[in-house]
Amino acid sequence: MSTPTTGPSRRAPITPADPAVFVGFGASGDLTRRKLVPALINLRRADALPAGFAFLAVIRQADVGGTLAEDVLRTADEHLDTPLTDEERGWFLGRIGVVVGDVEQPALYADIAARLAELQAEHGTGGNALFYLATPPQLFAPIAAGLGQAGLLDEAAAGGWRRVIVEKPFGSDLASAQALNRALAAVLNERQIYRIDHYLGKETVQNLMIFRFANSIFEPIWNRRYVDHVQITVAESDGIGSRGGYYDAAGALRDMVQNHLFMLLALTAMEPPISFDADAVRDERLKVLQAIAPFTRAMVQRDVVRAQYASGRVKDVPVKGYPQEDRVAAGSTTETFVALRLQIENWRWAGVPFYLRTGKRLARRVSEIAVHFRQPPFMMFRDTGVRSLNCNVLVIRVQPEEGITLHVDAKVPGQALDLETVAMDFKYDDAFAQTPSTGYETLLYDALTGDQTLFHRADSTEVGWQVVMPILEAWQSQPAPPCYESGSWGPEESHELLERDGREWRRP
Ligand code: BG6
Repeated sequence: MSTPTTGPSRRAPITPADPAVFVGFGASGDLTRRKLVPALINLRRADALPAGFAFLAVIRQADVGGTLAEDVLRTADEHLDTPLTDEERGWFLGRIGVVVGDVEQPALYADIAARLAELQAEHGTGGNALFYLATPPQLFAPIAAGLGQAGLLDEAAAGGWRRVIVEKPFGSDLASAQALNRALAAVLNERQIYRIDHYLGKETVQNLMIFRFANSIFEPIWNRRYVDHVQITVAESDGIGSRGGYYDAAGALRDMVQNHLFMLLALTAMEPPISFDADAVRDERLKVLQAIAPFTRAMVQRDVVRAQYASGRVKDVPVKGYPQEDRVAAGSTTETFVALRLQIENWRWAGVPFYLRTGKRLARRVSEIAVHFRQPPFMMFRDTGVRSLNCNVLVIRVQPEEGITLHVDAKVPGQALDLETVAMDFKYDDAFAQTPSTGYETLLYDALTGDQTLFHRADSTEVGWQVVMPILEAWQSQPAPPCYESGSWGPEESHELLERDGREWRRP
């Protein structure tokens, strides 16, 4: 598992996606400029976009001076690994349309229909349209309804497919997620709905399934007999930046745990699907979430830690605390850190604790899954100088420095019997040529080709919420969360959560 055995990356030629119009709601926003348009350009560079392609930007406020397309391209350019060429500029500017209006007014959808028909005729997009809802979440349902009422989601009438990508957050609790699912189901078939989770677009996250199910050596030991416990860490060194308005109402449990961390958990713990088909994979991911032992009040008290960052130093730079951030309510109790211990109640994992933690303003930005194996059953070195053995740990690094490391004990050279933990290391960068990526390429390509594997299905969004609801409810009657110093690894209580079980968090 150390050096590449395959040489430089061998990429299979990619089949271009279906011809389509990409209809971007909220197209003047950050996500479109910084991620989606650069991702589309990267897909084109990889020959993954079809010749028949057009972009329809839907915006709320007039495109004064007609500069939107140029503006979007300018920001996109800053987020590409290599600058845009004149040819690429020409390509994008030659196939973008703009529609302006209020998403709650039917007139907007009539304009979209007219513009869509023009772009379709001009660029040969064959009736296919991918609607991307990169808007504030309260507009998801009204936009779906507007599209539905205007007949824009009717595939038979369109003579092509119609799909909708819904950004996060998908609801703010179980009831709102159910209401959103109902609103989508009123106008769309589940096979037309793509609920995005950008963690599923990360290469290493996708690789988890390949790693587990395309190799035969891991599955036999991937269970309660060999695994002592699992740690999933998604640590960020950034604070909330300018997102106080959204974040203060959300908090880390809603923002990260209920979606991203649960997907990492599901991919780590799921059973082998019967095929690589979208529903086969999603069925297995769902079963993991369904098997999480429900949190009682006592469990929330004992097994869930929340905290809020105070000022401190991150990478030697002084930073302010959460209460001092913009658009954070005075006296806010919103958590910016969560650590929890959960159990998956099934045959494979009974008795194996899963520890999850995520937080902002932590010491480093690092996401990893660490599978800690059991101690050897018998300490045969007891009469030597060796006092204890370390557990083997398999670490799947999601970001940065994507790769996989296996920690094993080895003898230190010399006459004395001395052991030390060494690492067998696989680094993506060593084995494969880097592909420029914003993290959205695979997800957009999959939506354009109709592959829902990496998207949430209605049931998994709801089960995710079901798991966290008792925690959110219990917190309402608990005192304000403790603080942790910015630049640390979280509050003392998070360390105590593991110490109580005779374990400790890995220092990534
Ligand atoms: C988003 C959250 O979904 O994921 C942000 O809303 C978070 O709060 C971000 O910072 C983390 O994503 P990544 O890809 O940088 O790990």
